[in-house]
Amino acid sequence: MIKTEYDYLGEQDIETVLDIERESNPFPWTLTNFKDCIEKGYYSLVLKEDEEVIGFAILSVSTEESHLLNIGLTSAKRGQGLGKELLEKMIIAAEVMGSKEMFLEVRISNSVAIDLYKALDFKEIGLRKNYYRLENGREDAILMSKPLKKGLLSEFFFSSI
Ligand SMILES: CC(C)(COP(=O)(O)OP(=O)(O)OC[C@H]1O[C@@H](n2cnc3c(N)ncnc32)[C@H](O)[C@@H]1OP(=O)(O)O)[C@@H](O)C(=O)NCCC(=O)NCCS
Repeated sequence: MIKTEYDYLGEQDIETVLDIERESNPFPWTLTNFKDCIEKGYYSLVLKEDEEVIGFAILSVSTEESHLLNIGLTSAKRGQGLGKELLEKMIIAAEVMGSKEMFLEVRISNSVAIDLYKALDFKEIGLRKNYYRLENGREDAILMSKPLKKGLLSEFFFSSI
């Protein structure tokens, strides 16, 4: 069993997260993209093993809906259940904050990620044509969504005031 812990994404993690992003994505997010996520206050977690960052996920949350903006694990740590665990954390965070539905886009060729999302009950709800860049041309995105449980924290908050 791998011993892992979670933390909020901070400036000090960005270089490692950029390395993970570069091995995950043909057109990776940039330093500025990750800095923006921190500045905008997106719900951004890193997954650590032995104090080393091995994964990250970024979520834009509102009470209406949440968007999973990015998720990635370093290649050596994939296929061991950690991506699923990380995504489950994001889903719980969105639920606790009272979000009603979570959305995400995924490359049509990314069968591993699509399987992960389906395993966590995301459903395909649309196609965004030519959404992602490729070396030669563009690739469609599948839009997926999942209804969320009523926010636990909001229930507590509204019943206590
Ligand atoms: C997508 C990603 C986050 C999944 O994390 P992971 O730790 O590799 O996945 P897990 O081991 O938690 O597996 C979760 C589910 O994903 C699917 N999955 C994982 N590895 C798979 C593989 N090699 N082939 C097919 N499905 C796979 C399965 O449905 C699995 O559920 P199961 O184990 O109950 O069958 C990870 O592979 C990754 O970082 N990929 C590169 C970045 C990326 O594609 N991000 C998504 C952008 S939309």
